[in-house]
Amino acid sequence: MSRYAVVTTDSSYTSRLGAAAIGALEGEVHAWSGPSFPEQPQDVLAQLTQPVLLDVVVLGPGVPLDQALKLAVAFEVQRPEVAVLLVAQPTPDVVLAAMRAGIRDVLEPEAETAAITVLLHRAVRNAAIRRRTPDAGGHAGTGGPNGRVIAVVSPKGGVGKTTVASNLAVGLAATAPHSTVLVDLDLQFGDIASALSISPEHSVADAVHGPARRDTMVLKSFLSAHPTGLYALCAPPTPDAAERMTAEDITHLIEQLSGQYRYVIIDTAPGLSGHTLAAMDRASDFVFVCATDVPSVRGMRKELDVLAELGMIPVKRHMVLNAADPRGGVSVDDVRTTLGVHVDVVIPSSRALRLSTNQGIPLTQRQGRDRASKALRTLVARFSAPVAPVRKGGARHRVGA
Ligand SMILES: Nc1ncnc2c1ncn2[C@@H]1O[C@H](COP(=O)(O)OP(=O)(O)O)[C@@H](O)[C@H]1O
Ligand SMILES: [Mg+2]
Repeated sequence: MSRYAVVTTDSSYTSRLGAAAIGALEGEVHAWSGPSFPEQPQDVLAQLTQPVLLDVVVLGPGVPLDQALKLAVAFEVQRPEVAVLLVAQPTPDVVLAAMRAGIRDVLEPEAETAAITVLLHRAVRNAAIRRRTPDAGGHAGTGGPNGRVIAVVSPKGGVGKTTVASNLAVGLAATAPHSTVLVDLDLQFGDIASALSISPEHSVADAVHGPARRDTMVLKSFLSAHPTGLYALCAPPTPDAAERMTAEDITHLIEQLSGQYRYVIIDTAPGLSGHTLAAMDRASDFVFVCATDVPSVRGMRKELDVLAELGMIPVKRHMVLNAADPRGGVSVDDVRTTLGVHVDVVIPSSRALRLSTNQGIPLTQRQGRDRASKALRTLVARFSAPVAPVRKGGARHRVGA
């Protein structure tokens, strides 16, 4: 028997959840009405006649966000098997704060009953899995290689994220064969499969749901092998699968992969969705891809500002200026001045690169002598080059920001 508790000031929301829970959860339901809210898990559990069976806590409308987050953190620490859901508008900062507090899902207040039922089902399933695997609430770094996680991001589409991610991944696989994995987190319209000419049997959706979630061997069997020694986890075949994936699913997936592989490269959708933020939150490196047109540069400026506001400072930052064309009227200096950050790699506009996308063979797969191939190798070397010994009197060369 599963049960849930609702903390809210809104009694009509309690009834909506009650309707949504039919068939998903059985047993006792307890609602709080405020104005004083429970602060600790035991305050919630004390209200239940069989507290040991609590599966889901819904922090509903009317609970101040800071109090909701505090209670979620207390659950994460003391009762990690209980799934906590937050009802709030899922703005990027709310999603990020929720994720950091260990909240499983953020539910829009106006979500329809059917959508709430789906989330409750999933929360119950997660709770059951967590009960079976005592360390399932653990975080990255609990053993394994604890690989470098490289998120390739930009505010806009069509600027070369997939091109950069696939070339970087193939380049890194040459230095770490069978220990490099490329994940397509452009969950709706990802095209890593096409960029690598592979026909995946499994996708990110299979990796985050079902047995792969708790068994790394199963997860590994879901990766598609590329002839270069790279593994890829491609986007789901249909766009709607993305809606069934939470930020927490992505966090868990990246933790699993970085525990097993030296390099985890993540291609993303344009902008800062909850999925992208989840990936960035676990990344050691951000590769920003910026095109040389005014809207791209302005978009990038805004993205850097938003990330700074969210406190998302990467260990290393790499700014790539892509498809640079001296005839476009925007110079590398203009970009540097507008962004206020160093431009680390400039990839020229290249017919060979465009052709390689259409052929599904990344340029780094061949040892090309053209300028785009060289620029891509420079990018790869930022991650693969051994750290140079510090010579007496010499300056230490720092890669990244
Ligand atoms: N430096 C470049 N020169 C020429 N074409 C490029 C360059 N970089 C990317 N492209 C082309 O631009 C298109 C969009 O690139 P893509 O990597 O899919 O962008 P995104 O993933 O940001 O949407 C592709 O057809 C790709 O071949
Ligand atoms: Mg793309």
